Amino acid sequence: MKLPLALLFIVTYVTAKDIDKENAPWMNINLSPSQRARLLMSHMTGEEKRSMLYGTGDALSTQKYVGGVPGIPRLHMPPLKYNDGPQGFRDNAMPGSTTAWPSGLTVAASWDTTTMENWGAAMGKEFFDKGANVQLGPGVCVARVPKNGRNFEYLSGEDPHLGYILVQPVIDAIQGQQIVANAKHYVNNNQETNRHFVSENVDERTRFEMYYPPFKGAIEAGVGSIMCSYNKINHVWSCENNSTLLTDLKIRMGFKGYVMSDWGATHSLSIEQGLDQEMPLNKSFNQISLKTVPEHIIDDSVVRILTPFFSVGTFDNPNSNQISNNVTSLEHVEIARKLSENSTILLKNEEQVLPLLKHNLQIAVVGTQAWNPVVHGGGSGEVVPAWVKPPLWSLCDMLNVDRVDGTTSGSYNCNAGNNNCVTYYNSSTNPPPNTLKYDVIILFVETTSSEGHDRTNLTFSPEQEEMLSKWSGLTGKNLKKVLIMSTPGAVLTPWSDDIDSILLNFMPGQAMGDAITNVIFGDVNPSGKLPLTFPNKENEQLMTESQYPGLDNAGNATYTEGFFFGYRWYDKHKVTPKYSFGHGLSYTTFSYGKILINGRTVSCDITNTGKVNGAEVVQIYVGFGNNQKFGSEHRDEPVKQLKGFEKYYLNPTETVTATFTLTDRDLSYWNIDSKQWSLKVGKAVIFFGSSSTDIRGTGVMNVE
Ligand code: GLC
Repeated sequence: MKLPLALLFIVTYVTAKDIDKENAPWMNINLSPSQRARLLMSHMTGEEKRSMLYGTGDALSTQKYVGGVPGIPRLHMPPLKYNDGPQGFRDNAMPGSTTAWPSGLTVAASWDTTTMENWGAAMGKEFFDKGANVQLGPGVCVARVPKNGRNFEYLSGEDPHLGYILVQPVIDAIQGQQIVANAKHYVNNNQETNRHFVSENVDERTRFEMYYPPFKGAIEAGVGSIMCSYNKINHVWSCENNSTLLTDLKIRMGFKGYVMSDWGATHSLSIEQGLDQEMPLNKSFNQISLKTVPEHIIDDSVVRILTPFFSVGTFDNPNSNQISNNVTSLEHVEIARKLSENSTILLKNEEQVLPLLKHNLQIAVVGTQAWNPVVHGGGSGEVVPAWVKPPLWSLCDMLNVDRVDGTTSGSYNCNAGNNNCVTYYNSSTNPPPNTLKYDVIILFVETTSSEGHDRTNLTFSPEQEEMLSKWSGLTGKNLKKVLIMSTPGAVLTPWSDDIDSILLNFMPGQAMGDAITNVIFGDVNPSGKLPLTFPNKENEQLMTESQYPGLDNAGNATYTEGFFFGYRWYDKHKVTPKYSFGHGLSYTTFSYGKILINGRTVSCDITNTGKVNGAEVVQIYVGFGNNQKFGSEHRDEPVKQLKGFEKYYLNPTETVTATFTLTDRDLSYWNIDSKQWSLKVGKAVIFFGSSSTDIRGTGVMNVE
């Protein structure tokens, strides 16, 4: 319909004139966020709407946020400022002004929703205090391949249900700090090798059952934004993939927030395929006009973008903080320590070597990681801490020994009062001849990884591997050997038989030193569980090149394994991994009682049968056996799949009844014919486990 020019001018003038903030209809807090968003959108000019649809780095570059969109002062809309990353606010201009938190995979090892909530709230507060409006995190991709360079960032580990549950308190906590969260990278960004062009070829049922659930969990928690990834899915770019974005994410999974692209991940004007906002700058989206895109499409994207900011309070309490603020604090470092403590995994503890006593102890602390520790991964998710207290000093403090100067290998200090002595050796020092004087050798090793490339192997550096073989080979009647590993994911541990106790803290963040020391000496009883399998050898799952990293110069990675990676692969092929998914020991012990099944509810008594307080993560797995096939593809069923878990903190002799009620969704498969979840009718085996291979009881549930 053509408006007369005069009328068009009046309409434009009325819509374009300033509106008092207090009288602006979209400032009515009695309306819903989406109603307020629609009202604001209705007052925008075409140019103002377009300004929402792509980043304009220059508008924010003076403030050095990694992206965002400028505000619309006339309509009292503040600029929307985005920043990395999934484990804390990354400030390249002021490194050290924010806290380097444990990474996503690290806190996932807690298997504890309260830990996840505390992590999200603390990170979200620092984003707000830095003046941001969006945290570009959490990362939630499922760890399909052990060498993926960004596994450390992702809180799902190798299991979709673990990610589905753990992501929810994180989203809720971040957004509770007036920060819109961003679940990334949607979808199947499961490798860094050739990430900018690889096509990850995944069938629909595998996507729904193995890769979508962490995003679905984020959606159920109300996540405001999702980031589409660089790769292709089934030969279509992720950020213009009508099937995954529009059909699966927005229609089938019901996502009501907005999709932003990864930085530079667009290849066309794909707003009609489901992308709402192009980041960091316009490559294609500035072509949007009523000539190129139907108005209702533009309006829908603008409303999707605005709604989350009304939800978290950006309009009602504009964030006036500056990026120049220093927002880390001793209180936050303490929180980071507790997060790391609760995520530390005790992989092995022969003869209860750990915890150590705090007196009459002659210890050798070996490895440069003890002096100059690596505590985070690399890339856009990297957060550089102001400082990291060396574990060597944490150990000295715990033993009341003057802090040893770690710049000199072989340096030591003693405390005659409690007969403790700490000697430090860096990674390149061979064991001295008189090592038998030591009661304990504590070895520290690290390896890390980064965005942009996958790990070349699952081992430590040659220098550290040599150190490990030399020092772990030492023997002595009372000589005990303890190993502390900081890693970005799975590693190989061929020398483990020569080591009495092994602790793993993944990418532990800046408070690593005190955290691991509190665990070593028993001030904290470790309760972490592996969120991914540790293999016996490289590529133990025998992925072909066409599966990973892909054929045609890595252009095509085809997921022919379907469900069967991680523990599902080990179960199917009856291979025992080095350390299983869900594995983690304690300084106490737990017994499991009889499994009771009553309809959809399964329960079992758990008792702390040891002498110290501890926490146990009770895991519920469900399997339908290979004889039962579901859906038109008649695919093999995994032996068991994680469908429930809970972390119970118990005093000695205390008993709790662990109870889980399985939902239809827990017992369903994605039916590619009906395009809905269909119940797996038949006999389900219920496994109660302390890990995926440490099964303490089973039962049968008739699903109908
Ligand atoms: C990067 C990453 C993404 C990050 C973005 C902004 O390439 O893939 O995770 O948030 O660009 O730095």
